[in-house]
Amino acid sequence: MKKILLLTIAITSGALLAASAGDAKENYDKTCAKCHGADGKGQTKMGAKLGIKDYTDAKVQAGFTDDQAYKSVKEGLKDKEDKILMKPAEGLSDDDIKALVAYVRSQKK
Ligand code: HEC
Repeated sequence: MKKILLLTIAITSGALLAASAGDAKENYDKTCAKCHGADGKGQTKMGAKLGIKDYTDAKVQAGFTDDQAYKSVKEGLKDKEDKILMKPAEGLSDDDIKALVAYVRSQKK
């Protein structure tokens, strides 16, 4: 009985993990792609206006740590003149944000 229970838990948590990976793409497409582009290159109207970098470029990816990226997405990002570049993420849990950072990392070519 215990074994079956453990097996069920293992299967369910596997399914949950797979679901959250899908959610990251969904969240990205919904909330991030309008600026960063679906492919992460930032070739959007907003991207051009705000000077968004190409996140498929390994050098750009090396320019920030996971922690910085997490903080920027969670708390938002301002430029030197205190102008808002990226608003704090709304309606995303800490885990959602972590998954989004991992998703952005996966855009590196
Ligand atoms: C209003 C447009 C806009 C939206 C929407 C947006 N960003 Fe950004 N983001 C920017 C700008 C502008 C920068 C700063 C320029 C750059 O580094 O490319 C930036 C920077 C970043 C960085 C680098 C952070 C750092 O510390 O250097 C990451 C990672 C990032 N965004 C992820 C996301 C994710 C994930 C989402 C969706 C939840 C998102 N962005 C939504 C405009 C946006």
